[in-house]
Amino acid sequence: MSLWQRCVSSGILQHGRCLRRRVWDQALVSKFTSSPPRRTQSSVAGGAERTLIAVKPDGVQRRHVGQIIQRFEQRGFKLVGLKMLQASDGLLSQHYCQLVQKPFYPNLLHYMTSGPVVAMVWEGQNVVQSSRRMVGPTNPVEAQPGTVRGDFSLHTSRNVVHASDSVEGAQREIQLWFEGKELLNWDCFDHSLTYKEDE
Ligand code: TYD
Repeated sequence: MSLWQRCVSSGILQHGRCLRRRVWDQALVSKFTSSPPRRTQSSVAGGAERTLIAVKPDGVQRRHVGQIIQRFEQRGFKLVGLKMLQASDGLLSQHYCQLVQKPFYPNLLHYMTSGPVVAMVWEGQNVVQSSRRMVGPTNPVEAQPGTVRGDFSLHTSRNVVHASDSVEGAQREIQLWFEGKELLNWDCFDHSLTYKEDE
């Protein structure tokens, strides 16, 4: 039985409302402190995926990092890796290996190396597909308001953020940008409020 279900059956919560706030808070604290985060690879279970999200140099320069992180947190995804770095030509040529022959690649490389990038790994069910929808299409002109690109950008060559476009692509990109030890496996204590317990 989940913490949430236990609290409902013991009368602390009713119809999602907290009747005895202090007891609920204590229950959360006790769960959080009595079961330390697990740090095994098997924590990515139950259909959870991981994806690479990177705030590009224009997004960092324009101070959008916090707002972009907030969108993923607010949606319910879990941050398992985060770092700021100056991306090298070598890293980018691997990351954009399918684009290196494109006429726009030199400009893309110049832009992506023009300042720091904030790279993140987010985890959750269907996080790859969901985050692509949250980020919006490559060309911001086609991006809906409410998407990151639709809200913060105007031109393809300055589209603020990267999001992996497939589960396989995400695995490849995460390995490129992060070492295994930089990714943290931890349990969100509100997991049962975000997902149905048996999924
Ligand atoms: P791509 O992988 O096609 O798009 P996405 O980032 O949405 O997965 O392209 C990678 C980046 O290359 C894109 O975000 C911006 C840049 N780019 C251009 O500068 N000009 C272009 O015509 C295209 C297609 C992409």
